[in-house]
Amino acid sequence: MPDTWEALEHDCKNCRECSLWETRTNVVFGVGNRNAEVLFIGEGPGANEDAQGVPFVGRAGHLLDDMLEIIGLKRDDVYIANIVKCRPPENRDPLGVEQDACIGYLRRQVALLRPKIIVCLGRIAAMRIIKPDFKITREHGQWFEKNGYQMMAVYHPAALLRDPRRRPESFEDFKALQQKINELCEHTHAVS
Ligand code: URA
Repeated sequence: MPDTWEALEHDCKNCRECSLWETRTNVVFGVGNRNAEVLFIGEGPGANEDAQGVPFVGRAGHLLDDMLEIIGLKRDDVYIANIVKCRPPENRDPLGVEQDACIGYLRRQVALLRPKIIVCLGRIAAMRIIKPDFKITREHGQWFEKNGYQMMAVYHPAALLRDPRRRPESFEDFKALQQKINELCEHTHAVS
């Protein structure tokens, strides 16, 4: 049987493949447009996301919304997911075993969505999705082609909150994203 969003969401919400299920309030499956041409991938839910079951709803999420707005996009124009769907305690980085247990759900999301562009939010997602030795300070904003997808990584919005001096670089990265969207996407229009 072909996969469906409903089957995937059901599997994900009942998952006990790693120990994070024991401390989660909600599985944070993903949000946005299931026909989106642009997929954003974060690292994993924090406290607000765990409480609400929706990715990027805390302060970092508001900053992500602002960055999207700068290039004329809303959450509903894109899809937003994470490498791991359950909150790692104390907001630590997700462990390799947790990522390995969860990555199949993201693969199924990508297979259903078939986006044109994948944007990794931060180092953890970039190392998992683009290449294991990804260096975010050096390689953010650069385009990579992998498995037919155009990919880039930007600084994680939480990193921009911690260090606002990186914001101008991030602004340039979003401008590059805007240009790529307008080159490749058929129904997503990024404008400033
Ligand atoms: N940080 C992430 O990487 N993902 C979220 O959903 C929220 C914060």
